[in-house]
Amino acid sequence: MPRAVARIDLAAVQRNCARLKSEVGEGTELCAVVKADGYGHGAVACADAALAGGATRLAVATAAEAEAIGHGYPYIDLLTMGALAPEELDMALSAGSAVAVWRSAFLALVAERARAQGRAARVHVKYDSGMGRLGNRDPVEVMALARACAEDPDLELAGVWTHLATADEPESTFFDEQLDRFGAVADAVRSEFSEVTVHAANSAAVFRDSRSHFDMVRCGVSIYGLDPFQGDPAERGLRPALSLHSYVADVKHFERGDSAGYGRTWRAGAETCVGVLPLGYGDGVRRGLSNNAEVLVRGRRYPLVGTVSMDNVTIDLGADTDVEPGDEAVLIGAQGDAAILAEEVAARLGTINYEVTCGISARVPRVDG
Ligand SMILES: Cc1ncc(COP(=O)(O)O)c(C=O)c1O
Repeated sequence: MPRAVARIDLAAVQRNCARLKSEVGEGTELCAVVKADGYGHGAVACADAALAGGATRLAVATAAEAEAIGHGYPYIDLLTMGALAPEELDMALSAGSAVAVWRSAFLALVAERARAQGRAARVHVKYDSGMGRLGNRDPVEVMALARACAEDPDLELAGVWTHLATADEPESTFFDEQLDRFGAVADAVRSEFSEVTVHAANSAAVFRDSRSHFDMVRCGVSIYGLDPFQGDPAERGLRPALSLHSYVADVKHFERGDSAGYGRTWRAGAETCVGVLPLGYGDGVRRGLSNNAEVLVRGRRYPLVGTVSMDNVTIDLGADTDVEPGDEAVLIGAQGDAAILAEEVAARLGTINYEVTCGISARVPRVDG
């Protein structure tokens, strides 16, 4: 039994992509976002599964991620979405990635580096329609960048895009405001450049409003079967791909008042048995789950008791337990009829499912299954 392992159900990633593709329809491409090592699921394996499921493009955030992905998929359109320093720009371009641009000085640098590399660079001009992060806030400047790009032989105007700040907040009217602003830019761009890929939607937007779909959607969290609205992924036809497993390394008898872990934050209220699992915050099981989580063993939920330490956590098995050393333990995922979703763990931590799977550390091997 491995100490800590994340099993990745690649068939689920493939199926989730097929589900998303059916949601957006034939006229809209699915771009699978595999940044941050595929949200902690393993970027390369998930990219393969996503492409098998109907994704036709890939996106990452950084130049190093583009390098890790790009060379393996020379025929797939890859976009590096993040800001790039000059050295990083070279790395992204040599990996064959398209790059995001929102300033004219950076556009000139992209043209210069593309010329040096002897290959025209594909550019996606980014409009900041309200996210307030990367992108140009001025629609006139966005059009000027698009034109400059289209006129330069070292550049190819591949896309015009934006990112939505509140797609996952059903009550937010700002989502509609952003769509209206971007819609106007999209119309202007399309009237001059018919070949350009216009894109805006993340996972939440795909499910929320088909007006956001345009020519391509950029889906991350949903391809991994995580719910963009922090609910139950099954309600949107998504199947979680990641499960986190460990095992019971020891079972010990506790008298009333005995404590487990650093700081003695939990004491047995009565005689009981405590199981020790050999994983902890060094593996990404966050310390905020101390006395604030449940773990599956033999298809039943047991409370995590005491403080999560770097390499161990403890669970209260009750006085009459059939649990034995060597039994499998599941911290995220299903066992028998019971299941713990990443969304449940996130709610306990006051965070989002994205952070839960991204936070599973490099110490945990990712295996197919
Ligand atoms: C620019 C951009 N587009 C798309 C995505 C994918 O979003 P989601 O994982 O919510 O589908 C992200 C992820 O944060 C992003 O930064």
